Amino acid sequence: TLRLNAPLADVAERASAAAPAADSRARILMCAPDHFAVDYVINPWMEDQIGRTQRTQARAQWENLRLHLAREAALAYVPSAPGLPDMVFTANAGLVIGETVVVTRFHAKERRPEEDLFRAWFERAGFSTAAWPDKVAFEGAGDALFDRARGLIWCGHGWRSSEEAPPLIERIFETRAVGLRLVDPRFYHLDTCLCPLPGGWLLYYPQAFDERSRDVIATLVPAEFRIELDEREAASFACNAIAIGDRIFLNACPPRLERRLREAGLSPVVTPLSEFVRAGGAAKCLTLELPPTRADLSSLRL
Ligand code: ARG
Repeated sequence: TLRLNAPLADVAERASAAAPAADSRARILMCAPDHFAVDYVINPWMEDQIGRTQRTQARAQWENLRLHLAREAALAYVPSAPGLPDMVFTANAGLVIGETVVVTRFHAKERRPEEDLFRAWFERAGFSTAAWPDKVAFEGAGDALFDRARGLIWCGHGWRSSEEAPPLIERIFETRAVGLRLVDPRFYHLDTCLCPLPGGWLLYYPQAFDERSRDVIATLVPAEFRIELDEREAASFACNAIAIGDRIFLNACPPRLERRLREAGLSPVVTPLSEFVRAGGAAKCLTLELPPTRADLSSLRL
């Protein structure tokens, strides 16, 4: 049977999480939705949603995502905690590259108590935690997305993470970090409006960014590699996608996007997550990719 809320992952996962994987499968950190709910409002999606999430439905949707991912990746679990309803969104645990993690410094006060729990998990899993200034908000992989094809880290700021975060990230990981300013409160984390895809495609919602940031994207990503969504498409959390191999897991896949993905040789897998959308998150938010190892970083090519 599956232990979903094991006291600190399975022994095997704990021993090896920071070491290069024996197989080359992706590794993903999740947190069971035992205590998931909307108890406060820290983004526009949560307005009017307090107390409206359905526990059984949330569990079933999360479980469906988990089972899909388990076919493609090795999964690890951080124990959930009472009173921390958003801890299920492990994208916000930190940013991991190689054996180093920057543990999240939440802008959202409601989520600050998660920091110590995530830090404890990373330490016990063998990652080394980088020093980070308390006063600089940075919400982890929610606002920092590694683009393998370009060997850079896209960093979102403006709502949750500070503009000061990208230069710090760049220094810690010795990898170019490109700051992008987010201007629409519904797209408050970078992973709600941008997703680097295998093969060098970039899925994003341009209007979530200020003009300068849109120009930066256009400079770094050739037009034929940009997959731009409109407002409706983006509001379905289609950018909040997990790419593993040639599969793309996402809450919803609007027809135009499906066509583009298939043309690019990618297969969308829709895993509906409406209960989590009430809290402002979907597929990508519910996961944290462990490593990209240094080896991945050095063999990059578009
Ligand atoms: N309610 C959570 C928050 O506002 C949702 C987090 C979604 N996570 C993400 N990586 N976009 O913090």
